[in-house]
Amino acid sequence: MMIAANWKAYVETPQKAKALFAAAKKLAARKGLEIVLAPPAPYLGLLAPGNRSKVSFAAQDISDSMGGAATGEVTAAAIASVGATYAIVGHSERRARGETDAIVLSKAQHALAHGLRPILCIGEHERDSEAHYLQFIRAQISVVFSALTMQERLQVVVAYEPIWAIGKTSAEAITPEDLAEMVLYIRKVLGDGLVGDAQATKVLYGGSVEPGNERSLAGGSGVDGFLIGHASTNVQDFILLGKAVS
Ligand code: PGA
Repeated sequence: MMIAANWKAYVETPQKAKALFAAAKKLAARKGLEIVLAPPAPYLGLLAPGNRSKVSFAAQDISDSMGGAATGEVTAAAIASVGATYAIVGHSERRARGETDAIVLSKAQHALAHGLRPILCIGEHERDSEAHYLQFIRAQISVVFSALTMQERLQVVVAYEPIWAIGKTSAEAITPEDLAEMVLYIRKVLGDGLVGDAQATKVLYGGSVEPGNERSLAGGSGVDGFLIGHASTNVQDFILLGKAVS
């Protein structure tokens, strides 16, 4: 199981960042658990350099520019240079600020060009009774995967994060049954000519995963792990989240 902790802007002191990293190192020693931390950029720069633990690091986002005159942007090259190995791309909170599929694709390509594995976030705004949201999900996957080489496609981790379930409580998250259905659907889309073996692609779920619902979401749904926001920034909850699936 992969637990990717998306700290968003919840972590705002080096002390908190270090406490979470210490917890992550303990969890990463557990069998079958891969821990990925996605801190705000300053703490990525604080924690990732010289990291010899089994914890991996991700950027929460990367620039779609290749560098140069781009004030405020952090490029894939800069992220890779501090020792991160993943980059979240296409998070709904970035898409809500105007990030298009074309931008998400170029971020994924820049990440791959610098040896970072993209964690590609996809997810519908809402569900409709005619299941149009499935087409939306298919399009979000296809637009990125179809533009990559086969070798690149195999590097991509897909994080299914329905927008209606993000930043709430476990009571409002997806049900295990609906998640199982979506994981099957995502693998079907991937298997329709995008990757040779759809099982080879890691599919994560994100959206109000908390200690109270994680185990039931993991059991039988077919997910390979979780992308966790708010609950991953509380040391106690984070430890519970890691233990529950290992
Ligand atoms: P949440 O966020 O766990 O706080 O709902 C998940 C995400 O947006 O990655």
